[in-house]
Formats: sequence, C-alpha cells, structure tokens
Amino acid sequence: MTQMSLPFESRYWPLRAYYDVYYRSIEETETFWAEQARQLEWFKTWDKTLEWDPPFARWFVGGQLNAAYICVDKHAQSWRRSKVAIYWEGEPGDTRTLSYSTLYREVKRFASVLQDLGVGKGDRVALYLPMIPELAVFMLACARIGAIHTVIFSGFSARALADRINDTQAKLLVTADGGFRGGKTLPLKEIADEAVAMSPSVEKVIVVKRTGGAVNIRPPRDHWLHDLLAQTSDLSAPEPIDSNHPLYILYTSGTTGKPKGIVHSTGGYLVHNYCAYKWVFDIREESVYWCSADVGWVTGHSSIVYAPLAHGATIVLYEGAPDYPAVDRWWDIIEKYGVTIFYTSPTAIRMFMKYGEEGPRKHDLRSLELLGSVGEPINPEAWLWYYKNIGGERCPIVDTWWQTETGGIMISPTPGIGCIPLKPGSAAMPLPGVDVAVVDEKGGEVPSEERGQLVIRKPWPGMLQGIWGNPQRYREAYWSRFPGMYYTGDYAIKDKDGYFWILGRADEVLKVAGHRLGTAELEDAAVSYPLLAEAAVVGRADPIKGESIVIFVIPKEGVSPSSDLKKGLIEHMRQTVGPIATPDEVYFVAKLPKTRSGKVMRRVLKAVAENASVGDLTTLEDEASVEEVMRSYRELGPQRV
Ligand code: PRX
Repeated sequence: MTQMSLPFESRYWPLRAYYDVYYRSIEETETFWAEQARQLEWFKTWDKTLEWDPPFARWFVGGQLNAAYICVDKHAQSWRRSKVAIYWEGEPGDTRTLSYSTLYREVKRFASVLQDLGVGKGDRVALYLPMIPELAVFMLACARIGAIHTVIFSGFSARALADRINDTQAKLLVTADGGFRGGKTLPLKEIADEAVAMSPSVEKVIVVKRTGGAVNIRPPRDHWLHDLLAQTSDLSAPEPIDSNHPLYILYTSGTTGKPKGIVHSTGGYLVHNYCAYKWVFDIREESVYWCSADVGWVTGHSSIVYAPLAHGATIVLYEGAPDYPAVDRWWDIIEKYGVTIFYTSPTAIRMFMKYGEEGPRKHDLRSLELLGSVGEPINPEAWLWYYKNIGGERCPIVDTWWQTETGGIMISPTPGIGCIPLKPGSAAMPLPGVDVAVVDEKGGEVPSEERGQLVIRKPWPGMLQGIWGNPQRYREAYWSRFPGMYYTGDYAIKDKDGYFWILGRADEVLKVAGHRLGTAELEDAAVSYPLLAEAAVVGRADPIKGESIVIFVIPKEGVSPSSDLKKGLIEHMRQTVGPIATPDEVYFVAKLPKTRSGKVMRRVLKAVAENASVGDLTTLEDEASVEEVMRSYRELGPQRV
C-alpha cells in the first residue's frame, strides 16, 4: 500500500499483478474460486464447485460450514481471543469494547436464547434494531443455528416492517426499546408493536434495553433480552450448515411497488466477501476498520459484519448521526480509535464538504491508510475533497461498485493484489472471478468510451440465490433483459484503459442519499393517501444526496391542492415507507404525461423537474399534459419541503 503514495498521477504502476490474477480467474473461474474457498474453514469439503442451472447458481455444493464459527469461534479459539472485535460507540457517547472472546460468549448465549424460544434451522428471524452490538450478535447467533435473519433498517415504518415480516413469515422479531439518532430517540418498540399487529406469523418478540425509555412489554409474547439471557444455558455448538442454506434475506427496492427479498447463501457469500476484503481493503491483522453504513443495508451485512469478522479484524460500530452533536463527530471517532480503513458514501462526503474543512482539521487523522466509497457514483470533486481532507493526500480511495444482489464487491481498485493508478470517479476494474461488460440494447458489447448497460456474464459466489418465494420474479428482474447475462440496472462506460465508470441507474430505481427506492414503491405509497388519484415520482439531480424525490400528484375529484394536502401527503409517505421516502418537492397537476398505452412518461417529468429539454414527444398521448405539468412547475415554483 505504501507504493500508492501517488495513487492516481503515475501512469507506471504495475497493473501486471492485477492482470495476472484476473485473466487466469476468468479463464478458469471455477478452479479459481475453489482455490479461494479453501482459505475458509469447512466442516465438510464440497463435492462440486458450481452447479449452474441458469439462472440459479449453487456454489460449493455438498460443502458444510458455519458463518458464526468462521467469524467468531475460530478467532476466540486462537490468539485473537483477546483482540478487539468491536469498538462500539453510542450516539450519547457511551462506549463498549467487545473482544473476540466476549463476542463468542455473547453469540453463543444469544443463539441459545433463540433455541429456547423454539427457533431452529431455516426459521426466519426479523431484526429491527438500532446500530448496537446486539444487532451483529443476533445476526451471528442466527447463523450459528442456521436460522435465516432478515434485518429491517430501523428507519423503516411499521407498514414496511410488517410487509417484510409477512413476506418471510418470521416467527420471531427482535427489537429494542429505542435507539438514539440525531439527539432524538426512535420509538422502535412502539413501531414494532404496530407492525406485529399486522404480522400474524410473529409468535415472540425479544426486546433489547437500549434507551431505558418506558415501553409496553406484553407477556407471553414479549420478553426482555436480559431476562432470557439470565435463564439460558449457553450450550449451543455451531451447526454444520450446507453451503447453499440461506444465510439471510435482505429486502431491496426494484421496479415494482413490492420490495424484493434477496436471498444470500452461506458458503458462496462468505467466500466472495472474504476474498473481496483482502483484495479491496488489503485488510490486515492490525487494521482498525470502520464502515459508516447502517447494518440494515447490504453494506452493513457484508462490510460491517461478515467480511471483516471473517478476517478476525477489529471493527468500529457507531450508533448515531454523522453530525451529532457536532459536525466533527466522525473525525473524532477516527482519531479516538485509530481507524486505518474508513468506508463511507458519496452523500456523506458531500455533506461534509458543505460543512467545510474545519471539522477534519481539528483531528489527527494520520492513522488512516485507505479510504473507500460505496452506494452511488462519486463525483470527482467529492473524490478529491475526500482524498485531500480526510486522506491527507496519502490514502488511496477504493470506489467499490456492487449491489444488494451481488452480495459482495464486484468492481473496485484492488490494493491488496497490486496497485493500479486511480482515476477519481471511476470504480476501476472488476474483481478477480467477476466477468462484467457494458452492452447495448441487443446485448452486444459496446466499444470503449460508449455508454451502455452494465451486465455480469458469469455466475459469481456471492450472487443472490433468488428472490424469497418468487423464482419467477428473479428470472424476470435479472435474467430476461439480456438472456444468459445478469442485468444490473446500471449504465456504465468502460474507458480505453479498461476502467469502469458507473453512471447511475438505467431503470426506475432512485438512489437518494445512497438509499435505494423504487419509483413504483413511492407512487404506491402516495396513492394510498385517500385524497390522491394518481402520482408519478422522478429523481432530480441533487448536489448532496445524488438524487432527490420529486413527486407529481393528481388530487381526487373535488379535492383542491393546498399546503395542508401537501403536508398530509408527506406525513403519509413517511408513515408508509419511512423518513427516507420524504419527497423533496411536490407538484399538484391535473394530468400526467402518458404514452398511448397509458404509461407515465417519467423522462418528460424528469426533464421538467430538471429544467431540461423534454425531447421527443411522438409517443405521447396528450401533449397538453406536458404543458400542464410545465405550467404547474413554473407557476407554483419548486415547493421545497
Ligand atoms: O446504482 C448502483 C449504486 O447502488 C446500486 C445498488 O444499490 P444497493 O443494492 O442499495 O447497494 C448499495 C451498496 C452496495 C447499484 O446498482 N452503486 C453502488 N455502488 C456504487 C454505485 N454506483 C456508482 N458507484 C459505486 N461505487
């Protein structure tokens, strides 16, 4: 890594090290991944590396392992037993340090609590918790007994929580009395109660005490975690789990209103993530690694819990808001724990750019060696600010492209393999074993420097096993657009040096502050408001959040547009999906521009919202609707919320 002191200016870094590994990995993909898989501890070796029955992949078939054993037991039974696994910091400033042996004890005890409540292999457990160590411990406890966890981001509403519980048919829900965020407390138990009332599959609720606020515990359904822990026997041994047994289900937004339950395997997922962390983050024994994402997203699953712990690394976990109580909170944490690898999102970087250089300047950030970015395209300006003000012009930045569905990082610079010159704004090259391409509408590879759709041409170990309970949707969403290739939904360019530039979503999915939201999901939420007839959502370029939510709505017959109506709609969307679904701008219109087949022309609405040319309107059913939308936009002006 020291070679990278001039990471993007030199043209002469040895790309060869990377190419040597990469080309062989693509020529002999299965052999390559089998070699990698041998680095993990298997209770039983696999019989077959890959069973590819398109579009269903099964990796390391017949192999048995246990994710919690790999992430915890193994270290607790080695010299790492006294090494710090988790430095946790709560938003109010309280802290906890968990060594690998403490983590081991906790995971075992939590696993035995799950067993006491009748949870076994294959059962689904919903986790609706703030960013506290118990969240990671419960994930690992599920993995230890082969239960399938589904983590629901603590910012989601009761409705969103209930939808996810109902889809998985989880029999247990774990929540907390509350959590701290931005100086406020989130009433998680209250929201959970509302959700459980709509979720008949839930038999038991475990409540973790975090804030100490008053909550309603309803026996025999609800139990405090500390009471259960006091009674449990602590005897559970890690179960040998089939490589293709699901480790977890994680919901993400797609192009329809209903989020997709992405299912990840145990063996392939762990192999992919173990390797990615070595290659991308060059993770070492002495690393102190902090990923600022929420555990509720895939970044939190792979990049906070499974990959770093599989390496026996020390991680930092922070509960609260980035700028609370002051805008230098994150830089304070980096200094305090001596963070060496820091991984965050472009939205966070742009927010800190707005706050200025004072915050980072107040702290000694010289422990940092490597920086990472994830979740959305990073603009070169933000990249350079991050490089200069956080990395002190010393640390390479790995811009990592991946998705909930890919399970692990797919495109990124790989300092752990060999240094390559970095280009601010480009995610660089695919990881070994990952075959990506940029194609045109017919699936043919486009010439370099031309925009096309990003596809993946070969199965990879971390790839999703499918959509929970919906194989047909899995086929349609990912494998029907370009037969034989996985459709990512992203536009990209491959430049003449072979670097990938990810340009953003090509489908009807928004990336708002890195959060993934489907336009259909937001529209469904809007029209469930009783005073509205129709709604159309578009994303508008936003200098900080990447995209912001703009919504055009038609009120029902006899309902007049008003600021109360707008407020009511916004509150309703927050209640239905969660605060991340808060629209930034609301426009009342009488008509929406539609094609003759009745499809809303979002392209036109987006152009109106961005003050751009509306382009070709030949497929439009009624040109007056565009005039109408434009008039509303001009006359009312942007009604910022
Ligand atoms: O559009 C891409 C964007 O995030 C999408 C995946 O979102 P999600 O499943 O929520 O997972 C995010 C965290 C892994 C992608 O389709 N995206 C992710 N990373 C990048 C990115 N866009 C550009 N550059 C990236 N590094």
